[in-house]
Amino acid sequence: MKISEAMTAAINDQIKAEFDSAYIYLAMSAYFEDCGLSGMSHWMQKQYKEEVEHAEKFIEYLYRRGARVIIPEIARPKESYNDALDVFRTAYAHEQYVTSRIYKLMDMAESEKDYATQSMLKWFVDEQTEEEDNTGGIVAKLEFLGNDKHSVYMVDRELSAR
Ligand SMILES: [Fe+2]
Repeated sequence: MKISEAMTAAINDQIKAEFDSAYIYLAMSAYFEDCGLSGMSHWMQKQYKEEVEHAEKFIEYLYRRGARVIIPEIARPKESYNDALDVFRTAYAHEQYVTSRIYKLMDMAESEKDYATQSMLKWFVDEQTEEEDNTGGIVAKLEFLGNDKHSVYMVDRELSAR
C-alpha cells in the first residue's frame, strides 16, 4: 500500500526535527566543552549522534516505502546557557516537545489506517519515554544536589561514563 503524501510530508518534517535536535545537542556539547565539563560534553555528543540515527531511521523508512526524502535545512542552535541545569532543563523540555511530535505522527498514522507507519513509530514512542527519563533524571539529580560547583562536578564525572 502506498504511503500518503500527507504522511510523507509529516515524516519529512520529522526528519528535519531530528536533525535540528542533533544540532541543539551538538551545540550543548560545545558549550559544556567550553565550560571544562568534559563528561557532560561527551554525554551531549552521544546524544547528538543518536539524533542523527533517528533522522536516518526515518529516511530509511521513507526509502522502503518508495517515498521522496527531502534533505532539510538545519536551524542554527542556541549557543549559550546560564549553567548545566539550564542546559538539561532545555534538553528535557525539548524531548517533551519531540514526544508530542511523535504522538501527533501516530495520531495521523492511526487516522489513515497506515499500519506500517504505526509499527515503525512504536520504536520512537518507546525511545521518547527513555529520552524523557534520561534528561529528566539528570535535571532531578542536579536539582536534588543543589546545582553548585561540587554537585555539577560529580554529575559531570558520572555522565562521562555514557
Ligand atoms: Fe530523536
